[in-house]
Amino acid sequence: MTKVVISGTGIFQPQFTITNAELVESFNTYVDQHNAQHAAEIEAGKHVALAHSSVEFIEKASGIKQRYVLEKTGILDPSRMYPRFEERTDDQLSLMAEISVDAARKAMAQAGKQGKDIDAVLCSTANMQRAYPAMAVEIQQALGAGGYGFDMNVACSSATFGIEQAVNAVRSGSAKCVLVVNPEITSAHQEWKDRDCHFIFGDVCTAVIVERADTATSSDQWEVLGTKLATQFSNNIRNNFGFMNRSEDSDPNARDKTFRQEGRKVFKEVVPMAAAHIEAHLASLGKEPTQIRRFWLHQANQSMNQFVIRKLIGGEATEDIAPLILDEYANTASAGSVIAFHDHHADLVTGDVGVICSFGAGYSVGSVVVRKLS
Ligand code: COA
Repeated sequence: MTKVVISGTGIFQPQFTITNAELVESFNTYVDQHNAQHAAEIEAGKHVALAHSSVEFIEKASGIKQRYVLEKTGILDPSRMYPRFEERTDDQLSLMAEISVDAARKAMAQAGKQGKDIDAVLCSTANMQRAYPAMAVEIQQALGAGGYGFDMNVACSSATFGIEQAVNAVRSGSAKCVLVVNPEITSAHQEWKDRDCHFIFGDVCTAVIVERADTATSSDQWEVLGTKLATQFSNNIRNNFGFMNRSEDSDPNARDKTFRQEGRKVFKEVVPMAAAHIEAHLASLGKEPTQIRRFWLHQANQSMNQFVIRKLIGGEATEDIAPLILDEYANTASAGSVIAFHDHHADLVTGDVGVICSFGAGYSVGSVVVRKLS
């Protein structure tokens, strides 16, 4: 079988940050204004008063301390509570392509690749900026890449599922060097007015180069030992925004047209699913979880990752075993496990084996087992 490697990764990091204190201050102002506006209905028992958020709750429940965002003023404006982006013309590079190109160039530089060396581009993310043409084709053109490009979406597992498609393309010979980008503009589909989830997401874009080992020249190569994907339908994380909304005469601003979740249920159901998935994947490769040097897990919740690791190795999830990037980036949908890999692999040595694993809406779980080559 063709040996396939990950030979470069890159991250685009937005220039703005929102701390929990800033976020909570704006949210609580929104709540006070909302409650004042509806005082009479609240008094009459016809309207439930909204409750304040708190920095302490956010940090304790999730481990998130701040998030990066592409635009900040619109999100923090209590009369708006979502980012303000300028619409671009058709002949301008779209925002999603712009951040993808930035992350891609960094990954390509690490892999020693130019646009002409790339022969497939997969844009894999939880939300696409538009219906068509595919984002991947615009990114392909902007980079001067050849071959083909297509978009795919498996919500929070988009990156790992994308990596498997890239690995399969290289193994089958349909491509030699594949770029997978995960532009996550979560701020645009986040529900910043919902206390249960307003703190969850951050914006980012990650990029990964997957290629044949015999063409790789990078000084940092990771052989892909195997990939494994699984899905199981659940409504516990859902967003009903879509092209049918207009024809259904539904309200485009209704609550169900942005991110919503049953966080508790997700937590309870996904932890065992992710742990069993990783264990089975490793077993199929003749490996035990205790032989794994590092787990780069999906970044949604700090204690969720601790539970997954405890189930797998029976011990504590130290930063060395399962690094967290959640405090700095928050949940970046599919990009989280790739950021964890990008930021926390330099100390591993030749022969070390690690697992990149995502889990989230769908439900979906994707794992990529890698071994440090050089
Ligand atoms: N500030 C203060 N209190 C809040 C709050 C906020 N922002 N949000 C909720 N609370 C309150 C709730 O009202 C509840 O109060 P009650 O006990 O009096 O009813 C209490 O805090 C606990 O709420 P709950 O929603 O059960 O919190 P939690 O401990 O489950 O944490 C999440 C919430 C979302 C952080 C957590 O469930 C989670 O991360 N789940 C996994 C989600 C996931 O992986 N999603 C994938 C998405 S890609």
